[in-house]
Amino acid sequence: MLGDLRGKTALVTGAGSGIGRGIATVLAEQGASVAITDLNQEWADETADLISGVPTLSIRLDVTNSSSVDETVQRVIAEWGALDILVNNAGVASAGDRSAGKNRDADWDATYEINVRGVVRCCEAALPHMQERRYGKIVNIASMAGHSARRSGGAYAVSKAAVLRYTRGLAAELASSNINVNAICPGAVWTRFQQAGARARQAADPALADRDIEDLFHDRYDPIMPLGRPQTPEDIGKSAAFLASEDARNITGQCIHVDGGVILRD
Ligand SMILES: NC(=O)c1ccc[n+]([C@@H]2O[C@H](COP(=O)([O-])OP(=O)(O)OC[C@H]3O[C@@H](n4cnc5c(N)ncnc54)[C@H](O)[C@@H]3O)[C@@H](O)[C@H]2O)c1
Repeated sequence: MLGDLRGKTALVTGAGSGIGRGIATVLAEQGASVAITDLNQEWADETADLISGVPTLSIRLDVTNSSSVDETVQRVIAEWGALDILVNNAGVASAGDRSAGKNRDADWDATYEINVRGVVRCCEAALPHMQERRYGKIVNIASMAGHSARRSGGAYAVSKAAVLRYTRGLAAELASSNINVNAICPGAVWTRFQQAGARARQAADPALADRDIEDLFHDRYDPIMPLGRPQTPEDIGKSAAFLASEDARNITGQCIHVDGGVILRD
């Protein structure tokens, strides 16, 4: 089977919701033991409840907290003997309430601290172990916003561009340790992240007051996707499983654009 992960162990951040949940579920379907980590323990537990047939751990992890990150990585290694796969998925669009506007100082701080430094912290916590074993697969979830200059930029887009640059640099640095580092750029996926965005657009425009927020999401994104449809958490999970598997052993420093073809318009 493509993306065979039987016998492998994985840690996914932000796995209590949306794309992270999709990634955790697909990695488990491919046979990996999965540490489901999230800032919200209840959401992580809910994801764990969806998975059967492979060992799981459900752990509260805040990627902005170095001790939390280090303890989680060490716990996974202690429980399962190894950490083979790290998927850095946790991310935010802004500091909180998106109807307060975008690109405030708090948004620059939050997107940098969570989306960029959170990825760096998790990599640095896992790398000594992966380097010692000369084995590791790191998958960072960036965004179409990180490479496109066609759509609105700002704090979120810049944070995702930083993830892509970090991914390439780390891949070059770790290639001699047999560690693959790649990224995935999703386009638009209907998750809490997009629900908050649609609600903020609705709050800002009285003409949208009676509209269903999922319809607002489709109105915004379907027309910019050459394939005419948004992506699902499982679409992202399948690419993550491939990149985390030996099928992708000679791929490093790359980004898979799972975006319905948006990259073709850039
Ligand atoms: N949904 C999209 O359209 C889309 C598009 C491109 C990229 N992305 C990226 O995909 C990733 C997942 O987004 P999503 O759409 O599933 O969003 P989501 O809001 O549904 O899920 C994000 C998860 O991250 C967790 N999280 C937030 N801060 C955290 C922290 N400090 N430590 C640990 N966990 C934390 C949240 O609790 C949540 O479970 C993000 O990096 C996002 O930027 C999403």
